[in-house]
Amino acid sequence: MKSKTFSFPFISLLLLLFVVLSAAKSYDFFYFVQQWPGSYCDTRRGCCYPTTGKPEANFTIHGLWPNYDNGKYPHDCDYENLYDATKIEDLLPEMQTKWPTLACPSADGNKFWAHEWNKHGTCSESILNQYSYFQAGLDLQTKANILSILEDADIRPDGALYSTEHITEVIKEALGVLPSIECNRDESRNPQLFQIYLCVDKLGKDFIDCPFYPKRKCSPEIEFPAF
Ligand SMILES: *[C@@H]1O[C@H](CO)[C@@H](O)[C@H](O)[C@H]1NC(C)=O
Repeated sequence: MKSKTFSFPFISLLLLLFVVLSAAKSYDFFYFVQQWPGSYCDTRRGCCYPTTGKPEANFTIHGLWPNYDNGKYPHDCDYENLYDATKIEDLLPEMQTKWPTLACPSADGNKFWAHEWNKHGTCSESILNQYSYFQAGLDLQTKANILSILEDADIRPDGALYSTEHITEVIKEALGVLPSIECNRDESRNPQLFQIYLCVDKLGKDFIDCPFYPKRKCSPEIEFPAF
């Protein structure tokens, strides 16, 4: 058999494949998702307070999710860098207040944080490690401070109905970017304010206008239940 060196087109093809594969591991922006605990808990399924106690009545973090501009998202990107609680030990007190779990059975939060890191966080590890990922989430929650934005506009968790458009406008006015509101239903099937999506740049630092908004719609009037 004749020996054959690799041809130029072949090398180029390999190179292209490499570039495409490494790009596939990246992402374009983050969804930063906060939830209202009152709306998580007053559902048919209900909730369980964490073992560390009832969270304060404030918007809490659900997650910081890498996303693509086309609406798709990467997930479970690295099985070799799974959640390790010892890496975020000094963030724990803040995690417990701002990123509490409400799932049943009652838990300390590690299972929730492990899910968030393993499924979503690992896909941003080209930019954020476990520590800086959780730190970024905590900083964004402080920066957004949704509850005081709403309360400043007399939108309070008092069980009353509020206009979804007004809620959206008030947040846009305060943060300079258009949020996306997700609703769920309470035990009597009334629509209510459940989660708020904000988009964040790749570094996990600044709010940006969403390249892609989740396709969903709340009723024009929604409840903002107490917690
Ligand atoms: C709610 O969270 C924000 C952001 O972390 C914080 O500044 C504010 O003091 C909290 N409000 C209450 C009532 O706990």
